[in-house]
Amino acid sequence: ETELLNIESVSSEQKAAALRKAGEIIREGGLVAFPTETVYGLGADALNAEAAAKIYAAKGRPSDNPLIVHIHDISQVYEIAEEVPDEAKAVMEKFWPGPLTIILNKKSCVPDGTTGGLHTVAIRMPSHPIARDFIRESGRMIAAPSANTSGRPSPTLASHVYEDMQGRIPLILDGGAVGIGIESTIIDMSTGIPTILRPGYITKDMLEEVLPEVKIDPAVSGRTMKKDVVAKAPGMKYRHYAPKGQLTLVEGDKDKVIAKINELVREKKEEGYKVGVIGTDETLDAYHADILRSIGSRQKPESVAANLYRILREFDDLECDYMYSESFFEQGLGNAIMNRMLKAAGYHLITL
Ligand code: TXA
Ligand code: MG
Repeated sequence: ETELLNIESVSSEQKAAALRKAGEIIREGGLVAFPTETVYGLGADALNAEAAAKIYAAKGRPSDNPLIVHIHDISQVYEIAEEVPDEAKAVMEKFWPGPLTIILNKKSCVPDGTTGGLHTVAIRMPSHPIARDFIRESGRMIAAPSANTSGRPSPTLASHVYEDMQGRIPLILDGGAVGIGIESTIIDMSTGIPTILRPGYITKDMLEEVLPEVKIDPAVSGRTMKKDVVAKAPGMKYRHYAPKGQLTLVEGDKDKVIAKINELVREKKEEGYKVGVIGTDETLDAYHADILRSIGSRQKPESVAANLYRILREFDDLECDYMYSESFFEQGLGNAIMNRMLKAAGYHLITL
């Protein structure tokens, strides 16, 4: 009963018909999954509390974890945000449409069901043409989390959404593989010094081109789970992006990492487990594992971000018990990559 509509390589009439159907579902309070440049989203009318509630049910998501409101035009910010500081305007002009979510104080028209009871609202204007057409066509602002079952890696292909959401939602718009592959950067601009609550494609350095000062929330930086710090983005406190088996990251000198991973694979195989390895284009040949994937090239961190969630899902499908991966420099986009990998690994990290 879940329809998967290709919207990418079809005629403009077919595309228009699919978008019309999607818009109707949204206006009637239903759910539609759609591609964005980061990951697939699971959308509902943001100002309709009952519609937003369906998102939590479909995902199995805790209801205190707020949703991001997606818009297609900057003017819509003023319908839902109480005050828009000049600094926020500068950030919107520089980075929207694009993979950046801005937290502002909300107006009362935004239901608690969308913001998890917070007095702030997360807003993003995506750049993906299908996302923008879909939002415009619906005539609504679209509340959307990533379109995965809560706790699974975010979907970067429509088939990932189908796996998690079949039978739970009426429609998935299939726009092919997403571009970036990890969720948007979240910056809190509702109070004090702008603070990154979730690292993403838009880095601290990029934000500092338009902002005098940017902080990183201590709950999201670093390599250990900080149990005593309260995460400001409620979603960051849950064990997220988790594969079914145990992922362990190994960092250090290249040759030592390869030797260590090969040793760990040998041990686990001897114990009878199914073991997977995540290497890079540069190192893949050096591993001895039955299940081996390159996550991309170290020269191109964008390729690593784009492949990460798909590979974690592939290892799930193959029912890997243990997975070992190289790690990446926490610099630029590497910050976001390591943030997601450490979460997926439950912070299992071996430093050589
Ligand atoms: O790239 C993305 O942001 C994707 C696509 C679909 O746009 N969406 C996404 O949504 O990643 P989701 O729900 O998986 O992550 C939203 C994050 C959660 O960690 C949530 O806690 C945080 O945003 N968030 C939402 N509203 C917030 C608010 N008012 N204050 C602090 N954090 C908020
Ligand atoms: Mg998510």
